[in-house]
Amino acid sequence: MAEPLRIALAGLGTVGTGVIELLAANRSTIERRAGRPLEIVAVNARDRARNRGVDLSPYAWVDDMQAMAQRGDVDVVLELVGGSDGPALTLARAALDAGKAFVTANKAMIAHHGLALAEQAALRGVPLKFEAAVAGGIPVVKGLREGAAANRIERIYGILNGTCNYILSEMEHTGADFGEMLKAAQEKGYAEADPTFDIEGVDAAHKLAILAAIGFGARVDFANVEATGIGEVRAADITQAGALGYVIRLVGIASLDESADEARLLQRVRPCLVARGHPLAAVTGPTNAVVAEGNFSGQLLFQGAGAGAGPTASAVVADLIDIARGDSGAPFSVPVEQLEQFSPADPGNRMGRDYIRFTVNDRPGVLAEITAAMRDAEVSIESLIQRGRDHAGGEVLVAMVTHEGPERCVTKALDLLNGSPSLTAAPLVMPILAD
Ligand SMILES: NC(=O)c1ccc[n+]([C@@H]2O[C@H](COP(=O)([O-])OP(=O)(O)OC[C@H]3O[C@@H](n4cnc5c(N)ncnc54)[C@H](OP(=O)(O)O)[C@@H]3O)[C@@H](O)[C@H]2O)c1
Repeated sequence: MAEPLRIALAGLGTVGTGVIELLAANRSTIERRAGRPLEIVAVNARDRARNRGVDLSPYAWVDDMQAMAQRGDVDVVLELVGGSDGPALTLARAALDAGKAFVTANKAMIAHHGLALAEQAALRGVPLKFEAAVAGGIPVVKGLREGAAANRIERIYGILNGTCNYILSEMEHTGADFGEMLKAAQEKGYAEADPTFDIEGVDAAHKLAILAAIGFGARVDFANVEATGIGEVRAADITQAGALGYVIRLVGIASLDESADEARLLQRVRPCLVARGHPLAAVTGPTNAVVAEGNFSGQLLFQGAGAGAGPTASAVVADLIDIARGDSGAPFSVPVEQLEQFSPADPGNRMGRDYIRFTVNDRPGVLAEITAAMRDAEVSIESLIQRGRDHAGGEVLVAMVTHEGPERCVTKALDLLNGSPSLTAAPLVMPILAD
């Protein structure tokens, strides 16, 4: 029998206990595929006394998480604690420094520190793996690094946050407003008590930065992901979009702008209008989906559960199996020293169509003022919908869809209208996802 791969597991919450359960349930399948057993030898969490519904008696309990990195009987340190910095990062550094392989599901840490950790891993010649950090159970990191490795990737985009997707698809289904559906998501366990990271698009931005790095061979650049959440999306927007043949989804999009001498990277998370026939329109509830467009593969769609104990554990254990087999490879698909440093692209260069919603005072001349600003900024309007009063107090919603044009023109039109007493709130712009 081959020597087991010995694992130290930090974090015994949703994912940590899921990994213990999966390793027990699929022991023989995993052993056959890995060519050797996968064995947890040591565990750590904050509260030793907590009943976690799994038997921890076979494992050594380590009080000090950092001590795991030093253990001679450990080959891989598995971090399932969370947080971009703090103990998770200290553990990652200590593990790599000690020459241990390191596996994590921590998107926040990889988005912020993935590059430095990849440099450290390369220096020590040890694997760094994070399949579960992007879209939970969906093997999209592997799909891009390995399955699509022969392609030049032209665009990557997807639904990267299950909480937002649940809220938006339920708003569509029930006609309810954002606040009501956020509450429902919290009651169903799809949203945290503090949902800020999810609904403001930060969680999706973490995942997008990682996907962009892998897809484009880029240095991870979370600081330049522009993120807009779903808090401003109203039930009326969903109705308007529906009338025009679209649904609304929070979409993370990464693409290279090659219009200038030097390619630049555009990374954005925005609520977008998605045509009903597009594969992402059919992605409802807490599901995640990623589309990668390869120059030879064509459109690839990865879809599945973006969170949850089972799916996330599935991705974590896939990484452990790779390590057990001796498969390694560069964490971000090309050797870390060869990752390119792209400057951020100017979003004004984006050519596309947009949905723009204004909330205005119901008085004569308002519509003329808006259309004049559009004309002066050279924005061509494809369709315009003026709805009746939406709220008490005479406020009216005006929504429009633009013809294709540079985004800078839309920005200019909104600048012209900025401060207008006719507008009762800042307009909401949602790009229409191009096919
Ligand atoms: N949940 C998902 O569906 C999902 C999906 C994809 C990725 N992830 C990622 O997976 C990681 C773990 O998520 P989770 O949902 O399993 O989290 P969780 O349920 O909150 O579990 C976190 C674990 O870390 C331990 N912990 C927290 N702070 C600690 C500290 N200072 N020292 C020692 N232990 C500490 C906790 O100990 P106690 O139990 O003793 O408090 C707990 O066992 C995160 O990076 C998350 O982003 C999660």
